[in-house]
Amino acid sequence: MTEFKEPMFRNNELKDRVIVVTGGGSGLGKSMTRYFMQLGANVVITSRNTEKLEKTAGELKTETGGNILIAGCDVRNYSEVEAMLEKTISEFGKVDALLNNAAGNFISPSERLSANAFDTIIDIVLKGSKNCTLAFGKHWINKKQDKAVVLNIITTYAWTGSGYVVPSAMAKAGVLAMTRSLAVEWAKYGIRMNAVAPGPFPTKGAWDRLLPGNLKDKFDFTKKVPLRRVGEHQELANLAAFLISDFSSYINGEVITIDGGEWLQGAGQFNMLQQLPEEMWDMLEMMIRKKNSKPEK
Ligand code: HXC
Ligand code: NAP
Repeated sequence: MTEFKEPMFRNNELKDRVIVVTGGGSGLGKSMTRYFMQLGANVVITSRNTEKLEKTAGELKTETGGNILIAGCDVRNYSEVEAMLEKTISEFGKVDALLNNAAGNFISPSERLSANAFDTIIDIVLKGSKNCTLAFGKHWINKKQDKAVVLNIITTYAWTGSGYVVPSAMAKAGVLAMTRSLAVEWAKYGIRMNAVAPGPFPTKGAWDRLLPGNLKDKFDFTKKVPLRRVGEHQELANLAAFLISDFSSYINGEVITIDGGEWLQGAGQFNMLQQLPEEMWDMLEMMIRKKNSKPEK
């Protein structure tokens, strides 16, 4: 299956937009930041590790020639989020979009988790997304800014649930509920809110914690995806840029899945029949038709 690596927008579709990307120093946050900068946006990347942020900012500035600001911020702490917002405003004079991308996660049987382990994931993902959304929302509403966008990165197990990542599933489900709730409540302030649910997109952060050691060979993600491949970072960046841009002005309260069909493959009761060789179908059809035929009188 051909991978798609082309940028969707080519011109300055995000020119002069100010976008804050939480967890923008690594993985998918970094890839989305790169594309936003290529499209002319000023981007603020935030996370706990400022050394990593500096390195990423230097790299992306050289690569794209765009503007980037770093802000150390643990999203679990509301006052750090407020300080990060203030830093953004004092540097760029405004903020147009918030991308809630920061997350924490690791696989574990739930009964092995301490109460603090559970809280840690829920605090980063749910409380962190709430902290940023609340601080930015209050700012936009007080300032009577006519338009703003929040984009939340969730997962498909926000609605299916998943064992072994239960705190993450609970937290992402909460972020989805926040998306759908505030999309309605804050629309009157010109704030649009959407979510993206990616399937497997290889990153070091996720793979080290979700597929450690030889698990990546044992549970090859490409086999779980009908399109038989993992996602390309540019594909997610294309979708995020679209959802932040004015081209998606009428999309509000939506969650867009970008997973090559992964979660539906697991959901459809008979999808396992894909494993049957093509040549078996003649025989199976004959067997079924035989059972269907009316008994002779
Ligand atoms: C059991 C564990 C554990 C493990 C940590 N803990 N790792 N318990 N098994 N493997 C426990 C600790 O013992 C502690 O509990 C509690 O969790 C908090 O751990 P800390 O290390 O103190 O927390 P902190 O330094 O804040 O680090 C947070 C973290 C870490 C989540 C544990 O992994 C991290 O910084 N992650 C950020 C990046 C990340 O996770 N990226 C992946 C996102 S992928 P006690 O009781 O001992 O104090 C993703 C993709 C989803 O979301 C879908 C993919 C297809
Ligand atoms: P990643 O590189 O580990 O990204 C997570 C980021 O969150 C890191 O930059 C991390 O930076 C930051 N972060 C963690 N805790 C934080 C905190 N308390 N405060 C501020 N920042 C914090 O992993 P990724 O794969 O790119 O994940 C990005 C997003 O995509 C996440 O929301 C994840 O759930 C989602 N996602 C990923 C996949 C996938 O296949 N990769 C699939 C579905 C959904 P610091 O450690 O420096 O703080």
